[in-house]
Amino acid sequence: MNTDVFRKHYRTPDAAHAAANHHTWLTGLDSGLSFPTLLRHRDTTLEFEHISGPTAEPADLPVIARALGQLHHAARRHGMIHADINQPFPLNGSGTLAGFAPPRRERLHAALSTTRSPLSGELVDAWLDAATHFPGALYKDANPRNVILSDSRGPVLVDFDTLTLAPAGYDLAKLVVTTAMTFGPLTRQHAVNALHAYTTSLGLGQNACPFGHIQVWAEFHHLLTSPWLGCHYTHDWATVRPWPTDEIASAARTPTNTPRS
Ligand SMILES: Nc1ncnc2c1ncn2[C@@H]1O[C@H](COP(=O)(O)OP(=O)(O)OP(=O)(O)O)[C@@H](O)[C@H]1O
Ligand SMILES: [Mg+2]
Repeated sequence: MNTDVFRKHYRTPDAAHAAANHHTWLTGLDSGLSFPTLLRHRDTTLEFEHISGPTAEPADLPVIARALGQLHHAARRHGMIHADINQPFPLNGSGTLAGFAPPRRERLHAALSTTRSPLSGELVDAWLDAATHFPGALYKDANPRNVILSDSRGPVLVDFDTLTLAPAGYDLAKLVVTTAMTFGPLTRQHAVNALHAYTTSLGLGQNACPFGHIQVWAEFHHLLTSPWLGCHYTHDWATVRPWPTDEIASAARTPTNTPRS
């Protein structure tokens, strides 16, 4: 049988190797989710099975949110439940995942000097540090282009370049922000419904990942994603954000301690 190929070229062999390791680890989690098969790895090129179907749209948010929760549930069963998310996490002999705060702190502070945000540098640092106390999960870039809705397989997650630890909810916030930046305003109810689907499949109570956390993490993504406005995205989060900024200021004031499991 012929399999159509999706070929991806990386800048360095190390980057290709890291993406291949991420794919191997994710597919070994027995999450029940669908990923493209990695057919071939040569130097700076990975060849994946080509997945047919459209990429995600706003109506798909609950399905994707459920899938992301399912992925974290499996990762937590495979040791992430005990991880300190601001420390590296070993991947069964195939490299490590970076912690949440270290690769982001400097970029967030740099972005604060160019992008208007309801967050201050002090709040960014407080939330990065407090993340250690939040339920641990993964961050795999959750923009809507990275989910293909296959007729036969449901949501298929593609793009294995970035994988780090992150607090539960961080990837969902990315999905909400980048979906709005791609398609225009979402309602608050879109985000509430998505969070419900996410926490249910993750197996966490609503208190472990409150809506206020999604609002704060959304501002992290606003800072980190703004450089791609005009390239992948046509709507500025500042103009499509479904809630007022004073609500974020209040949500961000105290990073709530939530149970880690
Ligand atoms: N295996 C695959 N089969 C079909 N399409 C794919 C596959 N992998 C990725 N794609 C599509 O190609 C796009 C680009 O691939 P990928 O996400 O890996 O690269 P990228 O550098 O992150 O680019 P982008 O930012 O445009 O998503 C994806 O957004 C997805 O829509
Ligand atoms: Mg991508």
